[in-house]
Amino acid sequence: MAFEQDIERVFAEAGAIKERVAELGDKITRDYAGREITMIGLLTGAVTFMADLARQIRLPVYYEFMSVSSYGQSSVSSGQITVKKDVGRDVAGRHIILVDDIADTGLTLNYTATKLAGRKPASLKICAFLDKPARRETALSVDYTGFTAPDEFLVGYGLDYAQKYRNLPYVGILKKSVYNKP
Ligand code: IMP
Ligand code: MG
Repeated sequence: MAFEQDIERVFAEAGAIKERVAELGDKITRDYAGREITMIGLLTGAVTFMADLARQIRLPVYYEFMSVSSYGQSSVSSGQITVKKDVGRDVAGRHIILVDDIADTGLTLNYTATKLAGRKPASLKICAFLDKPARRETALSVDYTGFTAPDEFLVGYGLDYAQKYRNLPYVGILKKSVYNKP
């Protein structure tokens, strides 16, 4: 694929991702034994990870999606985030796992989790495929994480730059020349 020239180096190979997602699925299966899970994925980045993760969980998993606006990296405050698309059903009494591609500043997950917590779920946990703790701007406890990521811009396996690269089967570090146009 020609667009792979934009990748500086690979951070997580497809095989390593598969292994790690299977481990997470096993852990979640153990943690939720005897229960049903409602996964709420944040569009669009969580789609790839959520589809793979749910298939590694040997319990019933219901799918829901939410879309929240984000003011990106230079961001203002968490108060500036708004819900663009909400879940399709009442989540009261459900065991929710909120899923996103990456916890960066943590503002998106923090805002969304706070919103969902107000709807009286039976439980609420956060699962982020990648975690960049170095960039955290708010207290956020991520319960399940695939990989701890370096402070670099990552794409692939759902993660995008300007909506591109989401379908790469691995996670790569994007060349700075792609977003720092001379
Ligand atoms: P947060 O609110 O700062 O935690 O950012 C969450 C969102 O920012 C994620 O859902 C991603 O869409 C985006 N994001 C943050 N870091 C990266 C990255 O390295 N690559 C691609 N998207 C990212
Ligand atoms: Mg994104």
